[in-house]
Amino acid sequence: MDGPVVKIAVLSENTVGTTLGLCGEWGLSMLVETAGKRVLFDTGEQGCLVANADALGVDLRTVDALVLSHGHYDHTGGMRAFLRRRGRLPVYAHPDLFASHCGSLPHEHYIGVPFSAEELSSLGADFHFVRTAVEIVPGLWVSGEIPRKTVFEKGDPRLYLKKDGQKMPDSFADDMSLYCVTPQGLVIILGCAHAGLVNIVEHARAVTGMSRVYGIIGGTHLGPVSAEQQAATIAYLQQLDLQFLAANHCTGLPMAARLAGLFGSVFRFAPAGSAFALPIVQSQS
Ligand SMILES: [Fe+2]
Ligand SMILES: [Fe+2]
Repeated sequence: MDGPVVKIAVLSENTVGTTLGLCGEWGLSMLVETAGKRVLFDTGEQGCLVANADALGVDLRTVDALVLSHGHYDHTGGMRAFLRRRGRLPVYAHPDLFASHCGSLPHEHYIGVPFSAEELSSLGADFHFVRTAVEIVPGLWVSGEIPRKTVFEKGDPRLYLKKDGQKMPDSFADDMSLYCVTPQGLVIILGCAHAGLVNIVEHARAVTGMSRVYGIIGGTHLGPVSAEQQAATIAYLQQLDLQFLAANHCTGLPMAARLAGLFGSVFRFAPAGSAFALPIVQSQS
């Protein structure tokens, strides 16, 4: 194998892991580089990714495409700042991106995209709304809508939709992930995994035709779900023989610590400022 196939740089996350004066925020933004292309996955909460990218020496004007994992504010809130820096580019998202996502913590409020589609388009977002999987770069797939197969992945009961003044369960049809095909297996890149981590992994296998899963990075949303879902998901992850697990963001610190204990050196903390070249080439010594 000739070196890394995918590079992932965490530009924005809840926590900061370097001494470069980065900003932390409740959000997630990662830059994915593969096959000579640079794809930004989510934009964090308030635009920290721009200053953080500057501090890290990442030129956001060279990003080829933006993919949005779902319509929550903590993944889309940096779009205005990013588009002002980048200008016009393709933006991949599910058609339900602008659904009226709401949450009940610490009080009931709207937690969807904080901008209108019109404003974002005027800033250069060239929206490509996708429901089915699409390979946007050779070997890099946007998942499309994730089929719900498991019975135990019931999600976070504090999240809901508001339609015509009525509260209803949020099915998160818009929740999408990235699937990267490498010679050593799939690298699965998560936003918040609202569709369920096991559903997402199984869909990745179906879409790409590759069953081996090399690694997973991103928000698992495992912290806020039921103990039953946590246990079943962890059992599933343990039989995957993962080589890399970097659960961050909405995983929550207690669950990240639990996973670190269970997975040992396979687990990596992934705060803002961290970067990974995958598959990891083991030294011979
Ligand atoms: Fe999130
Ligand atoms: Fe979310």
